Amino acid sequence: MRTERILAIESSCDETAIAIVDVSKDESGEIRSHVLASHVLSQIETHRAYGGVIPEVASREHYEALSGLVSDCIQLSGVEEFTITRVAATVSPGLVGGLLVGSVYAKNYAFGLGVPFSGVNHIEGHALTVGLTNCMQPPYLVLLVSGGHCQFVSVTDVGEYKLIGKTKDDSVGECFDKVAQMLGLPYPGGPSVEKLATKGDSQKYDFPKPMLHNGLDFSFSGLKTAVRQTIDSVEMIEGIKADICASFQHTVAAVFSHKLKKALKETGHKSCVVAGGVAANKTIRMALQHVCDNENVQFIAPPLKLCTDNAEMIGYTAGVRVLLGADDSKVTVKPRWPLEDMNWRSAS
Ligand code: KG4
Ligand code: ZN
Repeated sequence: MRTERILAIESSCDETAIAIVDVSKDESGEIRSHVLASHVLSQIETHRAYGGVIPEVASREHYEALSGLVSDCIQLSGVEEFTITRVAATVSPGLVGGLLVGSVYAKNYAFGLGVPFSGVNHIEGHALTVGLTNCMQPPYLVLLVSGGHCQFVSVTDVGEYKLIGKTKDDSVGECFDKVAQMLGLPYPGGPSVEKLATKGDSQKYDFPKPMLHNGLDFSFSGLKTAVRQTIDSVEMIEGIKADICASFQHTVAAVFSHKLKKALKETGHKSCVVAGGVAANKTIRMALQHVCDNENVQFIAPPLKLCTDNAEMIGYTAGVRVLLGADDSKVTVKPRWPLEDMNWRSAS
């Protein structure tokens, strides 16, 4: 049995997250994990005033929060610092300033402890989260729906990923946030739209479903424009806002249902995993669950706090990869890092 005790840092967007995670592999190759401590500090209140994330402000807040959060996490976990065997940090994709703050801190911390550093791909973290939460190992299909991403990933093994569909323009979370902004609802927009939608009629407006019959890619800018045009053409009273939210949300859920069915058919996967902040939306979750039930596919959604950004998934991903033979010690910060580049087996 080999065990890695990982101190992990996530700072790719507007959450500063720290976790301490044990990941082990036994003689039969089975992976086990255990979270010893985890904390997420959200910057939402700071960015709310601007209606979105300001990268420069986000980096500064990560910088100010990091060392206090790491000390607290170590203290809360009860682990002795010398038992940490590795320090990991998200290096991509994300806002470069925040990624640099987190990974430079992690590298220095690793150097101070005399242990290795692992750079982690944030999307791979989301894709592997179900290993941590549901002991679920590949193969499976992932639908990642967040503020920064909207994509289907076919996961055949750890390090074997195929991006089979992605958005051509906005991410779905961005679209929720923009619709909320147009309607004067508070940031972040997803929860505001979902809340108001409960009071609206989802059949009131027939919004377009862009690229519906066009492979597995998505497009949300046309839908956003249609919502804008509707807002400009009607008198904005409270009930109408609720109808717009409900119809918009219904349209997004219908697009996902249609594409999920197609993605399951094309890949033949028997399990489907959803991740990202938009996975918190009950209408969308139910629609995806419904498709999976009809197709006899297992549907797995990690607990909400692990659908959104966290450091547990970063620690787990660093641990699994190193235990399976990857060397992620030299990877550096970059704004983009395609998942297909994560396969160390075919690279050597
Ligand atoms: O995964 P996440 O926390 O952060 C990253 O983007 O990585 O996702 C944040 C996004 C925001 O756009 C937010 O509006 C959206 O997730 N979101 C929701 C809901 N909760 C959060 N969208 C729809 N319905 C929700 N209940
Ligand atoms: Zn994320």
